[in-house]
Amino acid sequence: MDLTKFVAIVPDYPKQGIVFKDITPLMGDGEAYKYATDQIVAYAKDKDIDIIVGPEARGFIIGCPVAYSLGVGFAPVRKEGKLPRETVKVSYGLEYGTDVLTIHKDAIKPGQRVLITDDLLATGGTIDATIKLVEQLGGVVAGIAFIIELTYLNGRSKLDDYDILTLMQY
Ligand code: PRP
Ligand code: ADE
Repeated sequence: MDLTKFVAIVPDYPKQGIVFKDITPLMGDGEAYKYATDQIVAYAKDKDIDIIVGPEARGFIIGCPVAYSLGVGFAPVRKEGKLPRETVKVSYGLEYGTDVLTIHKDAIKPGQRVLITDDLLATGGTIDATIKLVEQLGGVVAGIAFIIELTYLNGRSKLDDYDILTLMQY
């Protein structure tokens, strides 16, 4: 299936000069959403995944159906102040700003094999921070899956040591 027709291209959002790739049409189409989810599930199948980790908010949309399909849990990575119990945190930069990401301290047990999911790889800042959170807790990043990769921002260069799947490249 050609997923590109389910991505809306929005120039100058959220700031002048940013070309935003909006995946809400993909999410809104049952067949396309299922197809994208199934591609990630197939990628994860032989990786012996214990838990999925996804950053707020679009990482949840991609990761939760994958977790359901694999029959494993999902641990949310959230912006600072959103998780109610003890967390670890990392600050990071992204294509249009900086922020702090957190995860509950007990979300991952040491040695657990983790699949990280998100909608889009841009500069790689978000995923780099998510990897640091997982590894701080002793998790093993067994794979990272995205719907979209913006190759012109070279986020992949931050992820040399990791196994990556991207379903579409711009
Ligand atoms: C977007 C996107 C990725 C991240 C990619 O999230 O969903 O998580 O940016 O950019 P990077 O590779 O440069 O880090 P955003 O922080 O806008 O949050 P949202 O999902 O809550 O909209
Ligand atoms: N996150 C970071 N950069 C983005 C972009 N260009 N489109 C959609 N989400 C993004």
